[in-house]
Amino acid sequence: MDSGSINKILGNIRSFIPANAAELEHFRINYLGKKGIITNLFAELKNAAPGQRKEFGRVLNELKSSAENILLQFSHLGEEKDKSAPDDLTLPAEPLQIGSLHPVSITRQKIVDIFARIGFTVSEGPEIEDDWHNFSALNFPPNHPAREMQDTFFVEKNPDLALRTHTSSVQVRVMENTQPPIRTISPGRVYRNEAISARAHCFFHQVEGLYIDEKVSFADLKQTLYYFVHEMFGTETQTRFRPSYFPFTEPSAEMDISCLICKGAGCAVCKHTGWVEILGCGMVHPNVLDNCKINSSKFTGFAFGMGIERIVMLKYGINDIRILFENDKRFLQQFVSAT
Ligand code: PHE
Repeated sequence: MDSGSINKILGNIRSFIPANAAELEHFRINYLGKKGIITNLFAELKNAAPGQRKEFGRVLNELKSSAENILLQFSHLGEEKDKSAPDDLTLPAEPLQIGSLHPVSITRQKIVDIFARIGFTVSEGPEIEDDWHNFSALNFPPNHPAREMQDTFFVEKNPDLALRTHTSSVQVRVMENTQPPIRTISPGRVYRNEAISARAHCFFHQVEGLYIDEKVSFADLKQTLYYFVHEMFGTETQTRFRPSYFPFTEPSAEMDISCLICKGAGCAVCKHTGWVEILGCGMVHPNVLDNCKINSSKFTGFAFGMGIERIVMLKYGINDIRILFENDKRFLQQFVSAT
């Protein structure tokens, strides 16, 4: 091949400007591919006259490196999106993934809001508690069977440290540090060493309430809870109180509401009674006030405590507590629009 033709090829290579990745690839195949122009010229090298072979080789190497330079110089084209194909503006947008609050969080916030409207503040405390705050200050005598009511996960023995079995422990801390009037609720996670089933879990969440002032009566307790039930479940919801026992309240009661699922007619959720228990409550035992250095001859108070999961299950018609803690997105996504 004469030097004029070679120079022409060299000129073509050097002046080549690809518009896109496809043109660049076409260039590569055309010059450097298996049957490309430069590859073929290299094959001719052995036929060149011995005197010219060296010069021919030099020229071919220059062609090759010029072509490789072009590939390198425009290599970014391959990484970019092919601009020649415009976006299809009629395609629907990528769906926006919106997260959701957990139903337990939604319900806890609702409960906190309801009590905030009548002046209750929120108190929090540690999940690992000592014996005093979880039991002794709350009038559980040592070795009293009442401690067995709440199967405890112990963390350490002597002195005893345990995962709190209720958030009443937080209220002991509040009473120790504040003089009445006290009006507070304590939402939080609690732990009990129970077999996990559709109705019970080894951890769950509570909101406990405490109101201490002069002349606080059982009537105040009932009115406060009526208000709560009507705000939470609707004004048509019925309530009833049953006598009960807790070491830290006297008298003590449990409150039932008419079953939200069957409206009192009887169903599996209410075990065909028409009623479901939602909380424990009572007048704070004078021993508890004394333990916390609050004058029990001057002040009286009421306390109540409820499990948030129980309320979630009733409100959303969920019949197995375990599903609340499985993090199954199909379940959780149903609460995207709930507030
Ligand atoms: N602390 C009790 C429980 O966890 C609930 C309760 C609180 C009962 C206050 C009465 C008064 O079961």
